Amino acid sequence: MKSSLEQVDLQALPRHIAIVMDGNGRWAKKRHLPRLAGHKAGVEAAQRAVKHCVEKKIEVLTLFAFSSENWRRPSEEVSYLMQLFITALQNEANKLHEQNIQLRVIGDRTRFDEKLCQQIVAVENLTANNTGLKLLLATNYGGQWDMMQAVQHIGRKIESGVLSSHEITIELIQENLSFSDLPDPDLFIRTSGEQRISNFILWQLAYTELYFTEVLWPDFNANELDKAFVFFTERERRFGFTSEQLGVNKK
Ligand code: IPE
Ligand code: IPE
Ligand code: MG
Repeated sequence: MKSSLEQVDLQALPRHIAIVMDGNGRWAKKRHLPRLAGHKAGVEAAQRAVKHCVEKKIEVLTLFAFSSENWRRPSEEVSYLMQLFITALQNEANKLHEQNIQLRVIGDRTRFDEKLCQQIVAVENLTANNTGLKLLLATNYGGQWDMMQAVQHIGRKIESGVLSSHEITIELIQENLSFSDLPDPDLFIRTSGEQRISNFILWQLAYTELYFTEVLWPDFNANELDKAFVFFTERERRFGFTSEQLGVNKK
């Protein structure tokens, strides 16, 4: 059994990692701090994760920053989270660009004000041709929303007569989802001990390896990410085949 990342074949690292950054509130509560302090510390943990993924030459990192259901939180917390998002975009844009990172924001932008939408487009345009890590920030994102907007897109094509319902295939649905040009997540990570998806990526998680850790998101660091990588490399991904078909020599 592989016990450290040094023994792991780097080729076997996940191409796409998707993280539910959970536990900011509990992290703050443990320290008798307001929840907002947990979110602030969470941004730093996100920066560490990005840095480590760049170092490990990971292709895609998707971070769940704000779910379509997080609007249900107290308005003060929602405003703070939105402000953190805006500040991070402002402060990080040039740094991300210098590191050759391509930033994309995935999710429903219709609830964002015009200024924020423009800011998102500006950062996306600035970094669009970068060839390093693709960093996807899932903000006002929901896996159900993603499927709905794909169905709406396909529905419009049927209405306009360019497509018939018989032509709807799995591939066509996939093509209409967010980040359809990128590989599906190989590794899903959720911190804070919760073992649920909470309406994060749904369709594209069909064959993703799921990793759960008790560590609260603000405490998550490179070492914890390496543990997830070790877990990942120990999985045998079968995609419906048998082990024998895959020709794997099991110990
Ligand atoms: C995750 O931490 C951050 C967001 C959902 C934006 P939480 O705020 O959910 O932290 P807990 O789950 O209350 O500890
Ligand atoms: C999921 O965490 C959303 C993000 C991390 C952005 P939540 O804390 O909102 O999930 P639930 O409500 O506990 O399922
Ligand atoms: Mg939570």
